[in-house]
Amino acid sequence: MSALELRGLAVSYDGVAALCGIDYALAPGTWLGLIGANGAGKSTLLRALVRLVAYQGTVRVGGAEVARLSRRRLAQQVAFVPQTPELPREMRAIDYVALGRTPYLGYFAAERPADRRVGHELLARLGLDALAERPVGALSGGEVQRLVLARALAQEAPVLLLDEPTSALDLGRRVEALELVDQLRAERGLTVVAAMHDLTLAGQFATEVALLDHGRLVRTGTPDAVLTDAELGRYFGASVRVLRDDDGDLVVVPRRQRGGPS
Ligand SMILES: Nc1ncnc2c1ncn2[C@@H]1O[C@H](COP(=O)(O)OP(=O)(O)O)[C@@H](O)[C@H]1O
Ligand SMILES: [Mg+2]
Repeated sequence: MSALELRGLAVSYDGVAALCGIDYALAPGTWLGLIGANGAGKSTLLRALVRLVAYQGTVRVGGAEVARLSRRRLAQQVAFVPQTPELPREMRAIDYVALGRTPYLGYFAAERPADRRVGHELLARLGLDALAERPVGALSGGEVQRLVLARALAQEAPVLLLDEPTSALDLGRRVEALELVDQLRAERGLTVVAAMHDLTLAGQFATEVALLDHGRLVRTGTPDAVLTDAELGRYFGASVRVLRDDDGDLVVVPRRQRGGPS
């Protein structure tokens, strides 16, 4: 069974189509890198999957129709890291991570020691354990981004959606955060859908890439098949060059337009 299945997914804002005719199925343990120029529909697609925007068509997670799940049940199935999360600035970091456990608590129940342990483990794995008692508002942009990831991972949902999860992180931290997600993918068979701005990282972490253009899926396949000079040049406008490093990994670099004003 697919971990996630989209059939005829479409979204419009005020009658203007932002996504159209999206069909895609992901096997458990897939990391799908969603790529595309600004405004292509990446965030809209992710937001539809957790019902933050109204959509047409069908979305199934683990075989169940998302439209029929309660909010709580949906949160047990799909965790979402938005691009710009709303943050309770006064809340301590560890309590913020514990919010990820909410779908498992009884309506009036206090969290259990096991929930607290999950939170501390995740903070440690993301290098944030020393900051557990700090208010969220006193963390740097990169720390907040890792904290929001920790909260989503605490949800322990089989499907994880990430909207440009590393935009505020420096290069080393970027790889670290994505490595953690990748480890959990290996350990738990986590299925990941990540809108990825950095195409080099998409090439390194995604097992499949889907290229969106004006709300349509125009290319899907392995990173090797999709991340090519010709495809990227065509859909990202600017000239882009795809290189290989010594390990054979893809590196996507912008190519400067030579011959400017003389
Ligand atoms: N809340 C909204 N209201 C109206 N239009 C929106 C809204 N959110 C996104 N759009 C439009 O939908 C299209 C897709 O946007 P988005 O999904 O944010 O693209 P991406 O994440 O790929 O940059 C864009 O044309 C954008 O302007
Ligand atoms: Mg976006």
